[in-house]
Amino acid sequence: MDTIKVAELFAGVGGFRLGLEGYDSPDHPEFHMPSAGPFQTVWANQWEPPGNESKQFAWRCYESRFGESSCVNEDINKVLNDYESGINDHGIPETIDMVVGGFPCQDYSVAKPLSQSGGIDGKKGVLWWDIHRFLSLKKPRYVLLENVDRLLKSPASQRGRDFAIMLSCFASLGYAVEWRVINSAEYGFPQRRKRVYIFAELTEAAWDTEKRIADGVISSAFPIVAPESCRSLEISDDPYVITKTFNASGSGKGKSPFGTAGSMQNFVVSTCDVIENYHGEHKTLGDVIVPPNEVPEEYYVPEDKLDRWRYLKGSKSEERVNKQTGFAYRYSEGSMAFPDLLGNPSRTILTGEGGSGASRFKHIIEVEGRFRRLVPDELDQLQGFPKGWTDTGMSDGHRAFCMGNALVVGVPHAIGKMLCSARC
Ligand SMILES: C[S@@+](CC[C@H](N)C(=O)[O-])C[C@H]1O[C@@H](n2cnc3c(N)ncnc32)[C@H](O)[C@@H]1O
Repeated sequence: MDTIKVAELFAGVGGFRLGLEGYDSPDHPEFHMPSAGPFQTVWANQWEPPGNESKQFAWRCYESRFGESSCVNEDINKVLNDYESGINDHGIPETIDMVVGGFPCQDYSVAKPLSQSGGIDGKKGVLWWDIHRFLSLKKPRYVLLENVDRLLKSPASQRGRDFAIMLSCFASLGYAVEWRVINSAEYGFPQRRKRVYIFAELTEAAWDTEKRIADGVISSAFPIVAPESCRSLEISDDPYVITKTFNASGSGKGKSPFGTAGSMQNFVVSTCDVIENYHGEHKTLGDVIVPPNEVPEEYYVPEDKLDRWRYLKGSKSEERVNKQTGFAYRYSEGSMAFPDLLGNPSRTILTGEGGSGASRFKHIIEVEGRFRRLVPDELDQLQGFPKGWTDTGMSDGHRAFCMGNALVVGVPHAIGKMLCSARC
């Protein structure tokens, strides 16, 4: 099987790399992870944007795990400007077979019709356009991206517009696409984390896009109950037209046409909502809990702070006043589990999971009659990283931040395995 040379964009602490390539270092046998196939990460990029740029802790973790100079620590936009102008190629290799990355959901609208602009005129700082540029330059055969599932419905004023722009860009570059919203807990992982995975292939072979939803690369890795029917739609080949018109008026407004699964080729989309079909083992939060002797005392919540945690997690319906406007309103929210149940998968880890302050969204567990927060080693494992992966000298708060940003490593692993068995 030929090596699949991978470029990892927005690499964070290397979730895609671990999932695809695995980990095998004599210095760290405890981090051993199996590879998904003959994947080799030949280039990676990670840069913390302004505000945090002095704290390149994710990049430092990446380099300490994968070796010095394994990851370029520069804004991807600058990297590509340098590459295109010939100033500095930043070591980007000639051949890249696959591009992977998790990136934020932003506004993908464009300002000018293709006929009037030299290239696509997307908003500055929107990372999709850097991915698009990378694909245009390197033409990798495969692409695997991860994003929040909100991407399929954004923006609120034109539901689905941004994803339609993305699909249109892929089609213009010659890619056929599959996507799926995967809730990792439904496939046995110990964390509930719902993310959209987008797999694209540069191909001239005709895809049966409707069939592909049930038997494509993603659904072979994450099986679904075969859908009874799918919707079909055609999207414009000009992102400006999509910006102006997609779901902008008429009966479709308010609801995205994109379901939780779909496939697209040549601007024609098949899509539907699907349900999982998994019968394997189910892991839970309790499976990643470390022994009490590995939990520093500061992680235990003092008795006098417990009421505050209980209040924040509890249901409420109360009068509140907006401090700026003086406007009074009723605030209501339901209750959350207190403590988090060890017999269930955890809730989604967020970047704010670290720090000792009481919070509605941080996890709190009860072990041997005491309440405590989750330690970073547990957060690593909830994302499927080896225990201690982010223990590279950064603070516990930064470790939690990195895990809130990362992905469930087992997801690209399973997709990579399927890609290899089906196509290598
Ligand atoms: C969603 S996280 C991806 C995490 C990664 N998949 C992992 O396993 O850790 C996105 C990453 O992109 C990085 N990033 C944001 N803007 C960037 C830019 N302009 N250039 C390069 N990296 C950027 C962030 O620092 C963050 O670590």
